[in-house]
Amino acid sequence: MVRVTVPATSANMGSGYDSIGIALELYNIIEMEECDHIDISDKNGQLIPKDSRNLIYQCAKKVYDECGYNLNGLRIVEDCAIPQTRGLGSSSACTVAGIMGANEMLGEPLDRQAVIDLAATIEGHPDNSTPAILGGFCVALLENGHVHHVRVPVHSAIDFIVFIPDFKLSTEKARAALPKTIAHHDAVYNLARAALLAGSLTTGKLDNLDVATGDCLHQPYRFGLIENGEDIIQEAKELGALGAFISGAGPSIIAMVYKGDRDYAARAQALCAEKYPHWHAMQLRCDE
Ligand code: HSE
Repeated sequence: MVRVTVPATSANMGSGYDSIGIALELYNIIEMEECDHIDISDKNGQLIPKDSRNLIYQCAKKVYDECGYNLNGLRIVEDCAIPQTRGLGSSSACTVAGIMGANEMLGEPLDRQAVIDLAATIEGHPDNSTPAILGGFCVALLENGHVHHVRVPVHSAIDFIVFIPDFKLSTEKARAALPKTIAHHDAVYNLARAALLAGSLTTGKLDNLDVATGDCLHQPYRFGLIENGEDIIQEAKELGALGAFISGAGPSIIAMVYKGDRDYAARAQALCAEKYPHWHAMQLRCDE
């Protein structure tokens, strides 16, 4: 039995659409071993396909196929803490678990770069899968099946509060809401902010984080799909967040907070309880 632990991830972080992501301390733990049929179980009662449509199985099979091995069947035991379809990288975690588990079972025919490339290619964007594999805060670019990436340390003064709703939003639907083309000034708006975000997160220049998470490429088109999403970003900032943004394709919202602000999580939880009963807030550290 091999065991793979994969963290939740938050992609985009506002300005870094399809190119910036961070791993968070919330994990899916997947055990798998070869057998003569498909046997998939789940310890937490999440709704998952238990046949060949299962994403972990499909990604494991892809590794076997690409490396020239035959996979007759697979036993998979899922212990998943990452909520599904909430913009916290749950499907990316399954993709990465399938690839890494199969690679380990086969004696690691794929090196780390090949694992990163395959995961991003399956996903279609690299900003969840790359930090899910490397941990930490990553800048990543997928081109012609290859991911150019760098992992950058996050300054120790920054913590993350995740606001999670009780409703789902599929990445497919959230991507379909985006325009096919954007204006030149919108590209410049995000380009400057994404670069500022990477530098400010690592150096701890906290006063840059609000402007650096600003975005006009995806969030304005997605707020209509996330009831109260824009209100929560505004209120998270009023509670003292350094910056706040839609996590990945949504619907979760993430607030970056100063670690010394020890009551922030309690204030965020009280806000949800009083005004947004379909949401709850939890504190998650960066997975380093
Ligand atoms: N960058 C992707 C998007 C992340 O915003 O659609 C999806 O998890």
